[in-house]
Order: sequence, then C-alpha cells, then structure tokens
Amino acid sequence: MISYQTVTIVIKLEITKLYRNFALRINIISSHYFLCKIDVFFVILHPNFLPTMLLEEAKNKIEDLTRQIDHHNHLYYQKSTSEISDYEFDQLLEKLIALENQFPELKLPNSPTQRVGGTITKEFETVVHKYAMLSLGNTYSKEELEDFDTRVQKGLGSDDFEYLCELKFDGVAISLTYKNGLLTRAVTRGDGTKGDDVTNNAKTIRTIPLKIDNYISNHFEVRGEVFMPKKIFTQINQEREDIGEVPYANARNTASGSLKMQDSSAVAKRKLDCYLYSLLGDDLTTPTHEAAIKTLEQMGFNISPTYRKCKNIHEVFNFITEWEVKRHELPLETDGIVIKVNSISQQNKLGFTAKNPRWAISYKYKAENAVTRLNAITYQVGRTGAITPVAELEPVLLAGTIVKRASLHNANEIERLDLRIGDYVFVEKGGEIIPKVTSVDITQRDTSSSPIHYISKCPECQTELIRKEGEAVHYCSNINGCAPQIKGRIEHFIQRKALNIDSMGEKTIAQLFDCGLVKSPADLFDLHYEDIIKLEGFKELSTKNLLSGIEASKIAPFENVLFGLGIRYVGRTVAEKLASYFKNIDAIINSNYEELIEVPEIGERIAKSVVEFFKNPDNQEEISRLKQSGLIFEINVSINQSESDILQDKSFVVSGVFENYGRDELKGVIKKNGGKVVSSISGKLDYLVAGNKMGPAKKQKAEKLGVSIISEVEFNKLIEL
Ligand code: IVH
Repeated sequence: MISYQTVTIVIKLEITKLYRNFALRINIISSHYFLCKIDVFFVILHPNFLPTMLLEEAKNKIEDLTRQIDHHNHLYYQKSTSEISDYEFDQLLEKLIALENQFPELKLPNSPTQRVGGTITKEFETVVHKYAMLSLGNTYSKEELEDFDTRVQKGLGSDDFEYLCELKFDGVAISLTYKNGLLTRAVTRGDGTKGDDVTNNAKTIRTIPLKIDNYISNHFEVRGEVFMPKKIFTQINQEREDIGEVPYANARNTASGSLKMQDSSAVAKRKLDCYLYSLLGDDLTTPTHEAAIKTLEQMGFNISPTYRKCKNIHEVFNFITEWEVKRHELPLETDGIVIKVNSISQQNKLGFTAKNPRWAISYKYKAENAVTRLNAITYQVGRTGAITPVAELEPVLLAGTIVKRASLHNANEIERLDLRIGDYVFVEKGGEIIPKVTSVDITQRDTSSSPIHYISKCPECQTELIRKEGEAVHYCSNINGCAPQIKGRIEHFIQRKALNIDSMGEKTIAQLFDCGLVKSPADLFDLHYEDIIKLEGFKELSTKNLLSGIEASKIAPFENVLFGLGIRYVGRTVAEKLASYFKNIDAIINSNYEELIEVPEIGERIAKSVVEFFKNPDNQEEISRLKQSGLIFEINVSINQSESDILQDKSFVVSGVFENYGRDELKGVIKKNGGKVVSSISGKLDYLVAGNKMGPAKKQKAEKLGVSIISEVEFNKLIEL
C-alpha cells in the first residue's frame, strides 16, 4: 500500500526592481517503501495570486503601521508632544517602508513614508491655478495704512468691519489641493496664474497633512508659506561650513531652492515647514477669515498662533508695534504684517484690483539699512582655500549695532553691484546674520573712480588663485603653505563635533602656529610642557589644562576623528555613515570610488573627494602620525565598553542626539552596566538621558514627573568605575 504525503511550500522571492512574486511549490510524494517522487512547480504569480492570508496579513500590518505613524506624527508636529522615542519612531517607519517595498500595490495613497521622499522630478509640470494667486499691496508707513483703512471704509460704505492681522512669513507661497480629504496637489505661486507642481516635494513637509479625516468639503484649496525654520537654516549653514562650502545667503532663498530640488529625499532632509493662512473652495460657508483659520486648525493644518483680530486700525497699529521686536523670537523669518478684512462677505464686496485684493494689504517693517562709504575691499582665506571678499566700511549704526564690514560673497557679486572704492553703499540687515551691501548710491560716485579688479593672487601666500569651472568662488591651492588654511584646519580639528579640545581656541592655535610649533593637527599631540609654558599668557595651570585637554581628546570616537580630518564634503553625518560602513580608517583608505558610492547616501562628489584626500601622501603621513598618537581609527572603541552592575535597578530613557555615542550604542552601554532601557517616561523612571535635539515635550513630561534629566557628560560620570 502506498501512502502519499503532500507538502506544499510557498516561498516568496523578491526581485527588487520588478516586484514580481514567485512561488515555488514542491510536492513531495513519499511512499512506505521509500519510493519517492518530487514534483517541483515553478510558477510566476501575480501578487494577487499570493495566498490570501499572506496578502491580508501584509495589508493589515501596513494599515496598522500607517495608523501608528500618523498618530505619532500628529502628536509630534501638531501637539508638540511624543509618546515614543525618535528611535522607536524610525523603527516603525522603516518597517512600513520595507513592507511597502515588498508589496507596492498595498501602499496607501496617503502613506507617511512619502515624508522621506524618494521620487525624482526632472521637470516640474506647469499647473494653472483654479483661483489666481495674487500678491499683496505693500505699505511702509502708518499714513499709508490709514489710507488703506479709508479705502476699505469707502468701499464698504460703513465703518462696521474688523481686521484680522497676521505676520508676513518670509518664505515661498504654496497652494495645496485636497480632494476627499487627500492631498492631491501642491503648486508654487509661479506667475500667479500658473505654477509648478511640487507635490512630491511638498509631501516631505511633515506639517502638511497628507490626509484629513474631518474635511469640510470634498474639494478645497489651502494656501500658505513654505519656510525654512531659522534653526534649520543655521544648522545647514554650519554643516556647509564644516565641509568647506560657502554658506547660503538667507533662509527664504534656501527654502525656495529646496522646494524645487529634483530629488524629494533631499528635500526631506531640508526640514522645511509650512504655515497656512488661507482657505478657498466653491462651497465653503466660513463667514470670516478667523473662522477659516480656526477650521484649518481643526483639520490639522499648521497655523502660526500669532494672528489677532483687531477692531480698528488703531488696534492694528498696536499689533504692528508689538511684533516689531518680538517677531525676531519666532522660529522663522518674517518681514511684516498682513492686514485682512475679517468678514468674507465684506472681502467679496471689496474685490480685487488687477494685481491685489482690496481687502488686504501688507505692512513691511523697514529693512534696517544705512548708507556708508566703502573704504576698501579685503579678502579672507578660509580653511579650504576659498576666498571671500569683504567690504570694509566707514563704521555706521545699523539695527542697534555698529557695522564695519559686510560680506560680498564672490567676484560675481562685486561685478553685479558695480562697486568702486569710495562709493557710498546701502547696507542692509534683513534675514541675513551678516549685513550685506545691497546697492550703490550712484549719485554720490566720484567720477574718477574705476571698477574693482578682483585679486588674482592669494592675499596671504601670493599663490596664483584658481576658479574651478562652474564655481563662483576663487581658491588658493597652496594647501600646506597658506597660513589661514592651516590654522583653519586645526580649528576644524579641535571643534566640539570633532576632537572637542575645549582647552584651546583660535588665539592659542595662532600662537602655536606663529612660533612654528604646530603646522598640522598631528603636531598637537607632540606638544610638551616646555613648549607651551614659554608662550605669552601661559602659566603652569593653563599649560597643564591645555595639555590635558589634548590628551583627553584621544577618546574621541572614530566618526569624530574622521570628521576632524577636514575632508571636503565630509560633514559629521557623512563621517558617521562612512565610519559605520567601513568600520576602520584602513578600509576607507583602501576603498575606491566604486565602493564608496555604494555606501548609502554617499554621492559622486563625496566619493571623489574622499579618494583624492587619501591619495595625497601628506594626508597619509598625517593619519599615520595621528594613529601613533593613539587616536581612535575604528568604530566601537570607546571608553565605556567595560561591563559592570553599577546601573543595577536603574531605568533610563534615551532621547536626542549625542556627541560621543550613537543612540543604540548608548543604550548598549546602559545595558552592559546593568541598567534597563525603557521607551516611555513615567513616574517610575530614574533617568532621562537628554541629547541634542530632544523634543521639548519629553523634557516637560520628565520635569513634571520629577524624573532626573541628565546630560551625556553626567551619564558618563554615573558609569565611571
Ligand atoms: S495672504 C491675495 N497672508 O505674501 C494674497 N500672504 O504678497 C493673499 N505671505 O504670495 C496672501 N505671509 O507668499 C497672506 N499671512 C500671510 C502671508 C502672506 C506671507 C506672502 C504670500 C503671498 C505674498 C503676497
């Protein structure tokens, strides 16, 4: 008697690009007498043919993860609080991305994974606006505003109206279309009649809802301003300086450039934000602008809480005065106030001119500017050899401070302004941190003056300058012989994000360089007591402090050291990526261009720069000296690798970004020393280890519950054995 046993195994294989599902079915038919027949079916199945269980399970999981992520996003971005750590949030997102990649047909149209981007738009489609995107008339004085108020009164034939005042956000206007609660389109203002479809890029902005549950109409448009928060702008510029790039001029242009980037995942990294200020639709019944704003708030849109209803123009003046100084505390740049008639029916009655609404106007705060004489142009040489021209001005009072210098960016800018020494120039302090020269007062020009000839040699070492194709900036190529470049490299090496030698600063570096003691970072580790004590201003204690600071820096983790080397385009984040991929410096040195571009997020430009850096024999020599001095050149070698039970019975929440640990690494150290890592803050928690960028809600919660909030340094003290 022969008995058959059939075993069916379904194996799902994935071919990444095609996302086709294969099923391999093996029927094993065995007999009592070891008669064996194996049947193998190899069939290509459409995903829909997959066993319903598998698909159902994936669908449920995707829906569940989407719900969870939406919930946490809402808490974080709309309510400024959070229930889970950033790490846990990232884990949820990663799980969802993996599932969506596996089952692309199950991806929900409003999936939160769109926030991380990934689409490439070669050319943005032009879209005609359903409602024209007009601009506002500008006023610069109270008199002009009074004229506006009179026009409104006349137009309405009554003084029975109210205004709603808002800040004028300095960013890029955007129009968002929602159909049946889903964001279907995001379009820039363009020429007001038609703009660019930047939907994929706008979807990466986390405060723009992708889906609205309590939508008020099946089809409506929301308008607002996409901006780059001041904090992010400073961070981005800091990162640019770290990698030897010229910083961006202002947040507005950076936001505008970011929104038009082709790769939406690059846009996501720009951390843009958006305030909404207008609701449009054919079937809306909101009676006032205030009601519309409140409706937007209820639907989950990001509304600046700075708006206020004003009963008359005098209340508007008070609003203007109040925000003149206070606006600088806001998270974004603002350049004025927008005054809108509150009632929608009154707005409709007033209507529009060809260009502007008659029911709204902007009041621009005076761009703080002054006229002064251009005495000279000097040229600064940066760490990477980049030359920056600087306007040396006759000192002038501007926005409360005396301004003597202004950046001129590059040769093109000098040409554009047609500057001449002795010219009277307009200097402005707007969104920029450094004042800028905006134009020349030609009426005061000395007719015998002549245009400026940009320098052709380095002002420091007289090397012939070079200007790479397509770049606006001139460079000095004398890397190892040009003083400011050498000093700049040492300053870069000792900074907090690198070796963190806080016992020395720019002045000491200059002293050490000038007396020939230090010409490269490696020289720092060869310094002796006798070398330093003879320097001006150094006594026994300060000498010992300096040396112990240098010694202590030897525990800096590999990624910090790698960043400190100052490889062009290798900022702190890129250094981390390279360190965790290659694990040690030799693997990086021995890698080639092809291997480097395989590393996630390492592009051609960085790869080329890394290869070039390590090919240079001077850099090889420098690294070998740093190695001999005992610096860490591989990952996971840190002081806290020891095990103990010193944290026994203690619980920790880890949040934010740390100087010397990855978040997981820190959690590992806690566990190795007997502690427990938990994810949420409760009254029972012993410590919240707070890194940079920790959400404010966590801090508030910990404070409320009396949990000890400790820094990374304090944590290190806890585990000092
Ligand atoms: S309302 C009919 N409100 O200013 C125009 N605009 O010159 C209605 N802006 O393109 C616009 N903050 O980009 C409005 N609170 C605000 C604003 C604002 C900034 C910008 C917007 C618009 C430009 C108008």
